[in-house]
Amino acid sequence: MPLSSFPSSSSFSSSANVLALAVLLLLLNAGTSSAQLSDNFYSKKCPNVFNTVKSVVKSAVAKEPRIGASILRLFFHDCFVDGCDGSLLLDDTPSFLGEKTAAANNNSVRGFEVIDAIKSKVEKLCPGVVSCADILAVASRDSVVLLGGPFWKVKVGRRDSRTANFTAANTGVIPPPSSNLTNLITAFQAQGLSARDMVALSGAHTIGKARCTSFRDHIYNGSNIDRTFASARQRQCPRTNGVGDNNLAVLDFRTPTHFDNDYFKNLLIKRGLLNSDQVLFNGGSTDSLVRTYSKNNKAFDSDFVTAMIKMGNNKPLTGSRGEIRKNCRRVN
Ligand code: HEM
Ligand SMILES: *[C@@H]1O[C@H](CO)[C@@H](O)[C@H](O)[C@H]1NC(C)=O
Ligand SMILES: *[C@@H]1O[C@H](CO)[C@@H](O)[C@H](O)[C@H]1NC(C)=O
Ligand SMILES: *[C@@H]1O[C@H](CO)[C@@H](O)[C@H](O)[C@H]1NC(C)=O
Ligand SMILES: *[C@@H]1O[C@H](CO)[C@@H](O)[C@H](O)[C@H]1NC(C)=O
Repeated sequence: MPLSSFPSSSSFSSSANVLALAVLLLLLNAGTSSAQLSDNFYSKKCPNVFNTVKSVVKSAVAKEPRIGASILRLFFHDCFVDGCDGSLLLDDTPSFLGEKTAAANNNSVRGFEVIDAIKSKVEKLCPGVVSCADILAVASRDSVVLLGGPFWKVKVGRRDSRTANFTAANTGVIPPPSSNLTNLITAFQAQGLSARDMVALSGAHTIGKARCTSFRDHIYNGSNIDRTFASARQRQCPRTNGVGDNNLAVLDFRTPTHFDNDYFKNLLIKRGLLNSDQVLFNGGSTDSLVRTYSKNNKAFDSDFVTAMIKMGNNKPLTGSRGEIRKNCRRVN
């Protein structure tokens, strides 16, 4: 019922009505930060957006399979820092410090050109309608599918931040590869993700590569690592800090461009590349889940999808908060 049709004409009761309505709206909103994401957000405003995103990701992955891994990681690093709001995509300027040079990202995150290419195609199709945050969410799903992983429906309606948070990205909100199991569980819990979600999401390391600097300590000093595997990796990653830091190794030595459960099989034989990989199977509380995923690819796919949806619903900007960026690299 519209407020104007309330019988009372006293200004007291009409402002009481407005207050009651405001409180009601607040209550409806509380704790349901993802309530406004939906399957059909763009079905009238940009019906072809999903096909457009997919076509660009498809040609990028055909050219370089690893780029699918890089895009998936961008989404993770975006979502953990103040929610899935495209904040990671913002470039630094003389007066703006973004997240790209923070410890978790510097010299490491990649794939921004693909996001730009998608954005410019989508802007031609439906100008000012589709957020960069949604593009990243959909492109991540498409990357997983194109590399042989499971499909899921991505809810959309996210808007783009006008801010970034260097400090968060620089100080462990995104856990470092030196993390132990407790660190990992805590960092994911802080995002509303369970230990089970954390293990399933770590399965993303079935694709992509890491730099020597990310795994040096594990291959030289780790106790829970297969010696043959460690020696092989040491040949491409010198012991001395600063030497060969950017040399790359695949995260899944079996099928590095195929999204499957081999990552968990590797952990069973102590061939996780990062310390944070191997701690998932080192006599602790997550051992049995790693065993389950290693034997049951369907169980992994299903839990991975559940966790990706949860991560993707993390504190999105919706309604009139944030904006739809014209260019993913800068605020309007
Ligand atoms: C559990 C905690 C995690 C830690 C400590 C971690 C850490 C890392 C590190 C250190 C790298 C290599 C970066 C480099 O050396 O340049 C990496 C790569 C990667 N991470 Fe994670 N990660 C975690 C969880 C995740 C999650 C949740 C996802 C996505 C769902 C993900 C997806 C990836 C992908 C796909 C790559 C390869 C990227 C490429 O080849 O460009 N990671 N991760
Ligand atoms: C990022 O890496 C570059 C190149 O290694 C380095 O010069 C710069 O200081 C790093 N930035 C931060 C904020 O650590
Ligand atoms: C940035 O992230 C830190 C750490 O998570 C948080 O305490 C802080 O409130 C954030 N800053 C802004 C401006 O959102
Ligand atoms: C994990 O690492 C933290 C430091 O980040 C340390 O305080 C804690 O004792 C470690 N926990 C275990 C179980 O090793
Ligand atoms: C291995 O551990 C020792 C002792 O903690 C440390 O001094 C050394 O820098 C580590 N080596 C590597 C390659 O991380």
